Amino acid sequence: MKVIGVLGSPRGKASQTARLARALDAGLCEAGAETEWIDVCSLRVEYCRACDACHSGGRCVHHDDFEPLREKLLLADGIVLSSPDYFGSVTAQIKAAIDRLSAVIHCQLFRHKYACTVATAGGPSGSEVTAYLGEVLLNMGAYVVGGVAASMSGGPAAMEEAERTARALGREMASAMATRRVYPDQQERHRRTADYFRALVERYRNRWPHEAAFWATVVAAASGPARPAAGAESVRSGKG
Ligand SMILES: Cc1cc2nc3c(=O)[nH]c(=O)nc-3n(C[C@H](O)[C@H](O)[C@H](O)COP(=O)(O)O)c2cc1C
Repeated sequence: MKVIGVLGSPRGKASQTARLARALDAGLCEAGAETEWIDVCSLRVEYCRACDACHSGGRCVHHDDFEPLREKLLLADGIVLSSPDYFGSVTAQIKAAIDRLSAVIHCQLFRHKYACTVATAGGPSGSEVTAYLGEVLLNMGAYVVGGVAASMSGGPAAMEEAERTARALGREMASAMATRRVYPDQQERHRRTADYFRALVERYRNRWPHEAAFWATVVAAASGPARPAAGAESVRSGKG
């Protein structure tokens, strides 16, 4: 059970969000998961240019640090996204990475994965950040086990309470992965989202032939949800 966690604060070791993520990590590891954390702020991740290259040919035009991160996310059983609250949303660094996952949402490539979100905020709550990151992951096909947020204005006691919650959430995420837990409401949402993106890609099949080929293999396989057949593996790997 491999989990990739993405740290979205630029404050490195001083990051309170990373501290909360460490508590989640403790829960994950004590319940048997193997984890790897990646500080997205230490990577070079260019902005998405909306050039359609990933949709049409399966390759991004940028040659930076993003593709290795994307590969790790695609191979993981679980994903954790974390960010401090910056003006009611995530940091620019993690948003730049999310924007580079357009082909992942089009092809629902986080399907069968489990996810959690972590946030801290200076003000009353970071829950808008966990809610946003949860929506992103759900829309990419993942089961969102939960999110944990801490407010710095609550002082040390609030942070310690959030750490206990994070640790319990980590254990729950590991258990969900181990038992392949199904969340029927999220499963229904995944079905609707997959139908939407399959239809969208079909409508733009001349512009997005790579993704159209991917969905064609999924439809041909038809016996299960959006697992790519062998011929579609290049969409996952980005080798077109
Ligand atoms: C540019 C910037 C914008 C911020 N905007 C908000 C905000 O809108 N609401 C809030 O509650 N806290 C805001 N904060 C405070 C951070 O969310 C808070 O200090 C957080 O715990 C920092 O996490 P970190 O230590 O992981 O970087 C902001 C901080 C910065 C630097």
